[in-house]
Amino acid sequence: MNIRTVSTQPFPDQKPGTSGLRKKVPTFQQPHYLENFVQSIFDSIAAPQGATLVLGGDGRYYNRVAIQIILKMAAANGFGQVLVGRGGILSTPAASCVIRKYRTFGGIILSASHNPGGPDGDFGIKYNSGNGGPATETVTEEIYAKSKGIASYRILDAADVPVDQLAETKLGNMKVKIIDPVSDYSELMESLFDFPAISTLLKSGFKIKFDAMHAVNGPYAKEILERRLGAPAGSVMNGVPLEDFGGGHPDPNLTYAHDLVEIMYGGEAPDFGAASDGDGDRNMILGKRFFVTPSDSLALLAANATLARGYKQGLAGVARSMPTSAAVDRVAKALDIPCYETPTGWKFFGNLMDAGKVTLCGEESFGTGSNHVREKDGLWAVLFWLNILAVRKQSVESIVREHWEKYGRNFYSRYDYEGLPTEAANGVMQHLRENFSLLTHKQFGSYAVEMCDDFSYIDPVDGSLSKGQGLRILFSDGSRIIFRLSGTGTEGATLRMYLEAFEADVSRHHLDAQEALKELIRIALDISELQARTGRDQPTVIT
Ligand code: G1P
Ligand code: ZN
Repeated sequence: MNIRTVSTQPFPDQKPGTSGLRKKVPTFQQPHYLENFVQSIFDSIAAPQGATLVLGGDGRYYNRVAIQIILKMAAANGFGQVLVGRGGILSTPAASCVIRKYRTFGGIILSASHNPGGPDGDFGIKYNSGNGGPATETVTEEIYAKSKGIASYRILDAADVPVDQLAETKLGNMKVKIIDPVSDYSELMESLFDFPAISTLLKSGFKIKFDAMHAVNGPYAKEILERRLGAPAGSVMNGVPLEDFGGGHPDPNLTYAHDLVEIMYGGEAPDFGAASDGDGDRNMILGKRFFVTPSDSLALLAANATLARGYKQGLAGVARSMPTSAAVDRVAKALDIPCYETPTGWKFFGNLMDAGKVTLCGEESFGTGSNHVREKDGLWAVLFWLNILAVRKQSVESIVREHWEKYGRNFYSRYDYEGLPTEAANGVMQHLRENFSLLTHKQFGSYAVEMCDDFSYIDPVDGSLSKGQGLRILFSDGSRIIFRLSGTGTEGATLRMYLEAFEADVSRHHLDAQEALKELIRIALDISELQARTGRDQPTVIT
């Protein structure tokens, strides 16, 4: 066995963001770049000799190369076994499922989520701990610190390991086990939801369309929706994962999932439509000519949870990220269960779930999940919806409208300004921060500012403090304007503006969100001076 110790120099830019390290592919292709980061992970997590690791990714360009490098480095760093998804594939929720099911030490997931792929696209890598969830901030800070001082890494000199057949091989002293990426996950889904009831629904003429966006969930959706549940062939579209996602932007929203949107808003539209992202953890839910906002979807799953087999006992509590609408808070109140407000990013939900404090959680960014794994889970959300639809036998639209009648409607929208010069984006944030005291108690049309702050969070489980998590302008009627800088972009800065207004009056529930939020949007643009400071009249994407 030939273990090489390779001298290297630190790269200054290996700070993990909201969800691991994401960079352009050419950045990762620089000599030693990936190796440095992987060695920094191994040096931070202190896995015991012989530990087992899970490894897989969303199949994007560079996935295969990275898998081989990481395997050889794992062998040189004393791991005993690595479980690899066949072809190097594991969706993010499936990786979380496998880590938990086989009680492995942790896992490495290769993905840049919903960012485009290909030779000039994005690549990413993150470490998940033994609970199946993204490493905590303490660990990611440690990885960053190690990356800044790294002088060498260890790698085994060996031929590539075949990863396309289910088999066990040896790499030095380490076992490499190629596993079916779909089966463990499918079994878990079958244990949570009433498959016979969903199957009956799908065979009764209820039509669905699932857009896998040429990304990792294609094989998962085909196995579960078409093979196990009996949806007609073709119910899954764009179901073959491609290294560049067919040139698309694998982000399930009304802008990027346009193939699906056209079908769902066209004549003969199916009854239910859904899409998921590059690594399969996000979801978008549509009814016939009807869009369900992710914040509403979370609230609705919480309100109907006991209709699904795995959640019959009820919910311990719910959690949402700060910018996510407060629709779920109203459900939690009605159910008399706790509702936690966390910073953006799935890693903050892990502690709450491990401590048994929450069962469901979600984000406005098309992410919903539960304590069945420690990642958000796109297909899980789809199955949850199908289970509810199978029991309630109503349309998606009527279920959502009834929900609004009962709880009121939280109008919600997010404006993204992508690829801004960093100074301009920072300038907007700085300007707002400096004006907090002037804004407080000021009246803007029908809105009165109650308070402004920079959101910070003390983790109720481990007491850790996370500061600077987004600027909040809170109004006396519960409406909110939030500004945040993205932690996942790879080009310049992305500024996100989140808008929310509560409406109890049923006669106004039919309004379009942009119409209902018009005044709030104007106020937000006004006080932030965003247009003047960035030179942008329009956001890049509105969700
Ligand atoms: C974005 C979303 C956030 C999500 C993350 C990873 O992060 O806003 O909710 O957890 O992607 O999918 P951001 O770019 O805003 O930091
Ligand atoms: Zn994702």
